[in-house]
Amino acid sequence: MQITVHHGQLLEELKTLASFSSEPSPVVTRVVFTEADRKARAYLKQLCAEAGLQTREDAVGNTFFRWPGTDATLAAVGTGSHIDAIPNAGMYDGTVGVLGGLEAIRSLQRAGYAPKRPIELLLFTSEEPTRFGIGCLGSRLLAGATAPGAAQQLKDTDGKGLDEVRSEAGFAGQLEDVLLPVGHYEYFVELHIEQGPLLEREGISIGIVTNIAAPASLRMEVEGEGGHAGALLMPDRHDALAAAAEVILAVEAAAKSTGVVDTVATVGMCDVFPGAVNSVPSRVRLSLDVRDTDLTRRDRVLSQIEHACNEVAARRGVRVALEFLNADAPAVSDARILDAIAGACAAHGISSKRMVSRAYHDSLFMSRVSPMAMVFIPCRNGVSHRPDEYASPEDIARGVLVLAQTLAELAG
Ligand code: HGY
Ligand code: MN
Ligand code: MN
Repeated sequence: MQITVHHGQLLEELKTLASFSSEPSPVVTRVVFTEADRKARAYLKQLCAEAGLQTREDAVGNTFFRWPGTDATLAAVGTGSHIDAIPNAGMYDGTVGVLGGLEAIRSLQRAGYAPKRPIELLLFTSEEPTRFGIGCLGSRLLAGATAPGAAQQLKDTDGKGLDEVRSEAGFAGQLEDVLLPVGHYEYFVELHIEQGPLLEREGISIGIVTNIAAPASLRMEVEGEGGHAGALLMPDRHDALAAAAEVILAVEAAAKSTGVVDTVATVGMCDVFPGAVNSVPSRVRLSLDVRDTDLTRRDRVLSQIEHACNEVAARRGVRVALEFLNADAPAVSDARILDAIAGACAAHGISSKRMVSRAYHDSLFMSRVSPMAMVFIPCRNGVSHRPDEYASPEDIARGVLVLAQTLAELAG
């Protein structure tokens, strides 16, 4: 079967999708359920309708584009990713897996291939934690990793509840109906940019993802006593920001203490109150993101951080509160899919290597309801979550070709 990827068309579609942004080009900001997201979804639905795919949306906005197979009794092969983007992001994170998945299907259609198993392209809602504070909200609900009731407790950055926000965006229905029936997918494969430098550094075209690291995220609040920056003497202070600074350094030290590069920890947000030049900070809110490919090691780092917080709080006379948002297990890819990806690379003479994903993806949760694996393509200097994120048309085309060949292999 001769599979030809029309990467010129795909690149134009990626650029059009990137134009649906709350910030002007080259920045892409597309927070879930905003107008930019809704326009992007409509555009994608139009493209998938043109490809003859059947569309289904669930109550939280996960969207399924189905290419019926010759045997409707068989479980489907799924592929897909997300199109929501964090503030000040680039145009390839997630979108390569969605539009690339569509192009993989179109390339198989053009090759005259007819799948035995249905093939479904998925658009997952809210992969990024930007709006509701937790990543992969759509795939968590699909996989049963988050209960509908817990999801309904989530508030967005404006304090609005999930039900209110999703119904404003046109997604009604019961969250209970989002959960996928057991066995709905026989296989799930996600194409994504690496978001790291390894493939480019080693001159390798395709990453075959064997594991996805275990993510945990928390909110931290440091509460001290404010006061006048001039009149409040140093011995009498309980400065929340100075305490938070010690906590941030303790986070970094805890991650480095494992001596393993797979352990990472990040304080990415810091909100200081009252935020006046001549006022001693009384409250600091921090975000914490801790990940590791090894669950025990990650949890050990989390308890080290908790211990450090307690020590700083006691010594400085402040209160440090930690609120867990998520602490998920890692995922292991399915051997059959890994071999299919490796076979597709070999069949097309494309270099590849097996590797870990340090970023999380919807595949992390799809692995709970289906055999899963991922295909990575290089991104320039490993940059991601920035407007200068870049994947070359040639790398994207190779990723789509490998995905198409893999889907054909798995769909029979
Ligand atoms: O944070 C992540 O790993 C993903 O890009 N949302
Ligand atoms: Mn991302
Ligand atoms: Mn992503």
